[in-house]
Amino acid sequence: MESNEIRKRFLKFFEKRGHKIIPSASLVPENDPSVLFNIAGMQPLMPHLLGLKHPQGKRLANSQKCVRTIDLEEVGDSTHLTFFEMLGNWSLGDYFKEDAIKWSYEFLTKKDEGLGLDVSRLYVTVFGGSEAVVRDLESVEIWKALGIPEHRIYFKSSKSNWWSAGTNSPAGPSTEMFYDLTGSLGDMNQEQFEKAEDEQKVVEIWNDVFMAYKQEDGKVAGELPNKNVDTGAGLERVTTVAQGKKSIYETDIFAPVMNMIKENSQNYDERSARIIADHLRSSIFLISDGVIPGNKDQGYVLRRLIRRAVFKIDQIGLDSGFIKKILEIFVDKYKTQYSNILQNDKITEQVIFDEESKFRKTLKEGLKEFEKGIDPFILATTYGFPIELTAELAHELGKEIDLEDFHKKMAEHQRLSQTASAGMFKGGLANHNKKTIRLHTAHHLLLAGLQTVIGPEIKQRGSNITEERLRIDFLCDHKLTDEEKKKVENWVNEKIKRGLDVVRKEMPLEEAKRIGAEMEFGAKYADMVSVYFIQDKEGNIFSKEFCGGPHVSNTKELSKFKIQKEEAVAQGIRRIKAVLL
Ligand code: ALA
Repeated sequence: MESNEIRKRFLKFFEKRGHKIIPSASLVPENDPSVLFNIAGMQPLMPHLLGLKHPQGKRLANSQKCVRTIDLEEVGDSTHLTFFEMLGNWSLGDYFKEDAIKWSYEFLTKKDEGLGLDVSRLYVTVFGGSEAVVRDLESVEIWKALGIPEHRIYFKSSKSNWWSAGTNSPAGPSTEMFYDLTGSLGDMNQEQFEKAEDEQKVVEIWNDVFMAYKQEDGKVAGELPNKNVDTGAGLERVTTVAQGKKSIYETDIFAPVMNMIKENSQNYDERSARIIADHLRSSIFLISDGVIPGNKDQGYVLRRLIRRAVFKIDQIGLDSGFIKKILEIFVDKYKTQYSNILQNDKITEQVIFDEESKFRKTLKEGLKEFEKGIDPFILATTYGFPIELTAELAHELGKEIDLEDFHKKMAEHQRLSQTASAGMFKGGLANHNKKTIRLHTAHHLLLAGLQTVIGPEIKQRGSNITEERLRIDFLCDHKLTDEEKKKVENWVNEKIKRGLDVVRKEMPLEEAKRIGAEMEFGAKYADMVSVYFIQDKEGNIFSKEFCGGPHVSNTKELSKFKIQKEEAVAQGIRRIKAVLL
């Protein structure tokens, strides 16, 4: 069964059980500067797991694009990736443990509607209890009733069977499903099971979280208004087991790229080939969601991915002309499910080639510097060497680098260049504070201002809002003149002064399209969408955008708007940074 079929089956399975299928959110969380990327399907649903009603109801399912940089060093083994798709189903205060576990089990094992996996290769872990929450005996009983023998159910501590998206997050105990990749493990006691997991002989394929608690500063701080279910199954991992493979890279998702790399490399090395495939696939998704390589935040992660891939390509003696071919194979794989991958394919290519050539300009010098003595900080800041690359090169020489020192220096460096990124990997609740909300409304006005002053062809490509400033990337074929910038600024300030109302309306997607509400280039939307209007008392509309909010209720709350910087980020893509005074 191909991965595209597995995704389809999963969604159909849960649709049949009363779930509404919602589209994947962008990899870059909208309006939430506390995290760099969506790391799980639940992340865009945080407000709803905390109690806010979801317009699509109480049962949801989707395939969510995720990026986890925490796994970067493990990429190259059989099961870890930087980008992956997470299949998930959610109950927002509706069904709980019994249905959640039963459906996970049925989807994994049923032949007609699910994956038809071999039950004798399944193992299960459950939450063993903590000071705050008792051991989950209920889940054990449910698993037993479904036919999983008790000796294949293991209690695990909060370290592995308690899930939250950071220190401040909805949270709860989890039960995880594992599959024997070898087909020969049979019954195992807990110690043997844990050893098999370390050796990647069993792999976690699904996690059901019973999200009934609220976590603050890393501690349980009471119950949520609802008992929710949050589940996640990595599409690439379930594909691996459904196809009877031993590694993610042998599945239909990666095999064509892996084969091509193998056939065309002079010094083929499996781990390097895996890193190339993983990093380029992630880059495609990131760029299609509006990320551009840079020195901070999401851009910095993308830069590291592209540069490490380029370096590995050289190392295994693959002609860099193959990058284009690799991109084409992946785009072809995903073009139906994620239409923005196809819509952005030329931009993606351009961005990757630009970054490749920037890296190549300093690569030789950097390698000379490396030979003189290894200073990862200098290599990173002056020669653009991703830290993973420096670490690998040092390792080859039998040397270790001081990662702690590097991260300390980088954090200081980034603090000095006034970035917020140091704390951004931690995760946390959506940042809906007043400052970001004001900037978010200003962002809508700015886009409308650009379209009025320059032309309706201006399209948003990406955005990012922190407490201090807003940033918008947009398609535009020229550098803005001073006069254009002034005009845009004046347009926005005039709208602020007029005290326009900001109004949210829910409507069917078709209706929102019909009235020409601004949508993000290539993004996928649900059937019912929320649209924000900025309008005067007579009903004249100045901005209408698809958006989840929140926003201020009147533009006069914004005081004064100022453009700080306008620059190119890639061919045909401009960036504006602006502030509210
Ligand atoms: N949110 C849970 C996870 O990512 C399902 O594992």
